Amino acid sequence: MGRRALPKIDPTLDLSRHLLTLTELEPPFVASRWFGREAPLEIEVGSGKGLFLTAAAANDPTHNFVGVEIGAKYARFAASRLARRGLNNACMISGDALRFMREFIANDSVAAVHVYFPDPWWKKRHRKRRVMNEGLVADVQRCLVPGGRLHFWTDVEEYFQVTLELLASATRLSGPHPVSERPAEHDLDYRTHFERRMRMHGLPVYRAEFIKPPAGTEPSAATGPFATHAASTNAINANRTNANSSDTNSTGTGAGNPS
Ligand SMILES: C[S@@+](CC[C@H](N)C(=O)[O-])C[C@H]1O[C@@H](n2cnc3c(N)ncnc32)[C@H](O)[C@@H]1O
Repeated sequence: MGRRALPKIDPTLDLSRHLLTLTELEPPFVASRWFGREAPLEIEVGSGKGLFLTAAAANDPTHNFVGVEIGAKYARFAASRLARRGLNNACMISGDALRFMREFIANDSVAAVHVYFPDPWWKKRHRKRRVMNEGLVADVQRCLVPGGRLHFWTDVEEYFQVTLELLASATRLSGPHPVSERPAEHDLDYRTHFERRMRMHGLPVYRAEFIKPPAGTEPSAATGPFATHAASTNAINANRTNANSSDTNSTGTGAGNPS
């Protein structure tokens, strides 16, 4: 499944409140200063065309949302959606989300991190390019407030499994907590464009949530090394949403942006 051209952005649209460029920012990123108010902060890694960010910001005006997207055209397009809707509780950052999390975000300051359908980088020698790596999961754990959540969805079973194992071995986050699927009520009633694409093709989606425990508490049993396999398998079974497809070989998003 390849890329399609992005729709044109209205050149008169003012993106100054909705689009920042990472290379032009100085750390730290203080969300309350940018948004002009204190509110729980949610960060999305790899926003693509911005369906999640736009819907989430519209549905929860009490939270601030930041999407980080490395594809400059996609970051701009997602920002244009926010601007068109006048969503002043959300902005896009054009740049590398891994760097943003590592260098710009303070400890215990983020209510939720969202990672939806990250590029799978199929070839073994390219796997080190995956965003769900040791560095990012350490930063997610460091940046989340106690009780904060990591949301991770993918269509690639192997990536899902490997990430659950990484989270279990390298973090104290509790999980995987299962996430149920609900029927879409309209054409854009999906978490992201990639979720829409997968479900419309009858392909499986694997979903899990993780929670940062309060300081000084032990991780839940599900994150212990012994429980990892069973927990992961349960999560896969609980979250695999394609009831009728036998094709699990060609379900990957491939590197690139959503069309
Ligand atoms: C397969 S697409 C999924 C987009 C969107 N999350 C969705 O589900 O529709 C993955 C996106 O992550 C972006 N991406 C990849 N590496 C990134 C990084 N290090 N920082 C920010 N974005 C990244 C890609 O440019 C692409 O838009």
